[in-house]
Amino acid sequence: KNLAVFVSGGGSNFRALRQATLKGDVNGSFVVLVTNKHDCGGAHYARENGIPVLIYPSTKGEPNGLSSNDLVTALIKYEIDFILLAGYLKVIPSELIQAYPNSILNIHPSLLPAFGGKGYYGTKVHKAVIASGARYSGPTVHFVDENYDTGHILAQRIVPVLANDTVEELAARVLRQEHKLYAEVVAAVCEERVIWREDGVPIIQSKA
Ligand code: GRF
Repeated sequence: KNLAVFVSGGGSNFRALRQATLKGDVNGSFVVLVTNKHDCGGAHYARENGIPVLIYPSTKGEPNGLSSNDLVTALIKYEIDFILLAGYLKVIPSELIQAYPNSILNIHPSLLPAFGGKGYYGTKVHKAVIASGARYSGPTVHFVDENYDTGHILAQRIVPVLANDTVEELAARVLRQEHKLYAEVVAAVCEERVIWREDGVPIIQSKA
């Protein structure tokens, strides 16, 4: 399958996913990266590895960014099957969601629906988890709809919150599991192992 990844930051999830494709754990390959920050770590990694980088959206700081329609056209030209958001901090335009139904995934560093939504990104998520006194956190992989962090949940992994955790310690513990969980889910998606329960909940079938 042809994969596109959307990144705004360092791109450790993208790197982990790409390694999984190279090892053959994920039956797909990254053909394009989309970013709103042309010099973010994820974009550098893509260029170093010969993966084309597209800028989206167009802003003051990124005047060469594509329009939503041009982004959709470009992704269709690259014959993209699935779009993976990996630390992409902008909302996804409805044109894209309509062009790729049930084909856009995101990873979020909390157990959704807890600690999700517009204000919850980056270290803010882990700060709020620690402040809440929650004993468990962990990543969620979900399909993307037109709001932040509200699409159907596909998979989650539980990570303990320890009594004296700092934000950095919790973030690192969750991130390690993000890398594993995202690769497992993307493997399942590429192998078409996602089935839809009657009530609309997606379920991953384990390998036969
Ligand atoms: C991850 O914690 C991810 O869950 C969140 O943004 C962070 C991105 O990290 N959406 P990286 O750029 O993949 O290292």
